[in-house]
Amino acid sequence: MSLRLGDIAPDFTAETTEGTINFHEWLGNSWGMIFSHPADFTPVCTTELGRTAQLKDEFEKRGVKVIAVSVDPLDSHTEWIKDINETQKTTVNFPLIADEDRKVAQLYDMIHPNASEKATVRSVFIIGPDKKIKLTLTYPASTGRNFYEILRVIDSLQLTANYQVATPADWQEGEDCIVVPAVSTEDAMQKFPKGVNVIKPYLRTTPQPNK
Ligand code: BEZ
Repeated sequence: MSLRLGDIAPDFTAETTEGTINFHEWLGNSWGMIFSHPADFTPVCTTELGRTAQLKDEFEKRGVKVIAVSVDPLDSHTEWIKDINETQKTTVNFPLIADEDRKVAQLYDMIHPNASEKATVRSVFIIGPDKKIKLTLTYPASTGRNFYEILRVIDSLQLTANYQVATPADWQEGEDCIVVPAVSTEDAMQKFPKGVNVIKPYLRTTPQPNK
């Protein structure tokens, strides 16, 4: 059965380019992103892993540990990383799981047989410090993911976790947020000293609390 939001992210132990990792132990109390790609030495994946490496500071700033999965072996990953570093002008700075036996791919339902029998699709799971799944995304093999969108969702998730605000359609960093329905307008006035704009009783906005 596929994983759903709120489920505990399955734990596993796997060989990676940074040694053997027990996933939950490796995550510790951090947020995490586990993402799969179809295969080593493929063009779209090369750009995706390069972009993720280039965004190291952005993931770190948000306290998010990043780990990639593909069903290719470790020696292939090691060779491919050299190409990623060369062509994307970066240094891959996160572990790649060598999931030859497809253990992780199966745990996370990353193989969609009607799309491809063998290769993993482009799955993304964002995991909270409670080890629960906060976001799932599935992209086809031919479309590279938008990693700025992933960071935007992480920002929104962390605002909700820390300040009880949600974010509206197309929200960008610095724009007004939405007071979550669980907070009464009276409590919101106390909680958000920058002000609360009551547009409808159920639609209340406040400036981004952590700005
Ligand atoms: C790629 O991973 O680069 C890719 C995979 C399937 C179709 C097109 C590109």
